[in-house]
Amino acid sequence: MTVIAIDGPAASGKGTLARKLAQHLNFAYLDTGALYRAVGLCVARMGGDENSEADALKAAEKLREMDLNDPELKAESTGELASKVAAFPSVRACLLNYQLNFAKNPPENKAGAILDGRDIGTVVCPDADIKLFITADVKTRAKRRFLEEFGAKGCDQQFQTILEDLERRDKRDLNRISSPLKKAENAHLLDTTNSDIETVFEEALRLISDGMISV
Ligand code: C5P
Repeated sequence: MTVIAIDGPAASGKGTLARKLAQHLNFAYLDTGALYRAVGLCVARMGGDENSEADALKAAEKLREMDLNDPELKAESTGELASKVAAFPSVRACLLNYQLNFAKNPPENKAGAILDGRDIGTVVCPDADIKLFITADVKTRAKRRFLEEFGAKGCDQQFQTILEDLERRDKRDLNRISSPLKKAENAHLLDTTNSDIETVFEEALRLISDGMISV
């Protein structure tokens, strides 16, 4: 069983890369951010308080009943809810088993699993065969989100709001006590600020095949 761990901040390109690698290698892919997003959304829909650990845990315990393809999961407001509930240790502990099980027993008997998130290489799969840490300058990340959301029609104010949202979320994810966003010591760092997805994909594939030879 091969496990690839990909971590990095919001809008760094890690999800696109992980999906592309999973397709190329025929591995199973788990977007662990979607789990935290689903919990955040569930708290809001239950009329709970995302700043209450008890409410967040109650939602996390319902993970298996949640729709991980709900289109509302993608909204930046859901990302904000997710980063609040993700700071609670009991919520993280509750979601850990799901992630470990996915890494150990990928669906459809795939030969490997790719998980992306914030703490995959450090906490969830510290023994992953390959670890990648994907990052990019925050303005570049905000610009990507802005173009995704508004295309050519967006205005400066919308860009500024996205930039501030990402900065706030980065700060929360980097500074929380429980499993903060952190590059594992043995992770390969890929900065995508000046690279397109194809270049990053080729570089990641090269690192993976070199890594597999030395395993
Ligand atoms: O990756 P994505 O932007 O979907 O993640 C949403 C939020 O979920 C992040 O800002 C982070 O707070 C949290 N998260 C986490 N650990 C993970 C994945 C996501 O804390 N492994």
